[in-house]
Amino acid sequence: MEIIIQPDSRQASLVAARIVARTVREKPLAVLGLATGNTPLQLYRNLVRMHRDEGLDFAGMTSFNLDEYVGIPPAHPSSFHSYMWAHLFSHINMPKERINIPDGLTTDVPAACRKYEQAIRSAGGIDVQVLGIGSNGHIGFNEPSSSLSSRTRIKTLTEESRLDVAAAFGGEEGVPTHVLTMGLGTIMDARKCLLLAFGKKKARAVARTVEGPVTAMVPGSVLQLHPRTILVLDKDAASELEMADYYAWVHEHKPDWQKY
Ligand code: F6R
Repeated sequence: MEIIIQPDSRQASLVAARIVARTVREKPLAVLGLATGNTPLQLYRNLVRMHRDEGLDFAGMTSFNLDEYVGIPPAHPSSFHSYMWAHLFSHINMPKERINIPDGLTTDVPAACRKYEQAIRSAGGIDVQVLGIGSNGHIGFNEPSSSLSSRTRIKTLTEESRLDVAAAFGGEEGVPTHVLTMGLGTIMDARKCLLLAFGKKKARAVARTVEGPVTAMVPGSVLQLHPRTILVLDKDAASELEMADYYAWVHEHKPDWQKY
């Protein structure tokens, strides 16, 4: 795992944007794996700015989002569809027909999940998968106890995860109970994983993900088995890492050709 610690989320999001932009520039037909939530907001803002000011070209890109709420129409203001259009897709030139988000209204969940996996394979696999992390260590909505080899499927949100998004649904009672989410096995197939985490609330999950044992109880820890995972953290999210000084030293002494 490569761990990049930045003073704040603004600088961390700039580093993350450079990593994604490098893939977009180097591979004009790249496949991007995308996340929602608070964490990637500044990353998406940077990508929109790079598109506008530097001509970063998404015309050949295909995207797959990690997850969507079950039973929530795409047009619902708190759906992940709405989030993605509001924060990214409406502002860049990614072709609409190559944007993929799980269908939370499907009447045949197993078939829709199989189709999603097939679509990722047909697109050639994900080149870079953007990830946030829950305070309980979930990535995607693979909650603790998720199989480390799981594929896209329906999952039940934990109470903690539902509380985290309660405000967006007018209180906990309004939060959907289920999501469709890429599995941990799906995420592990990505050629590169880019996990962002900001704030003290994420510090324990980050420490357990990086320095704890690989366990289904901390789904993010499966990334220890991924050959190309980069974590971009702010100081607070890195504050419980025992070897933070070492990770910082490694980053500062990276050879130029490895820099973002
Ligand atoms: C979102 C997702 C989740 C979030 C995580 C952190 O698509 O899959 O794993 O990344 O819940 O959410 P924020 O960034 O809101 O703290």
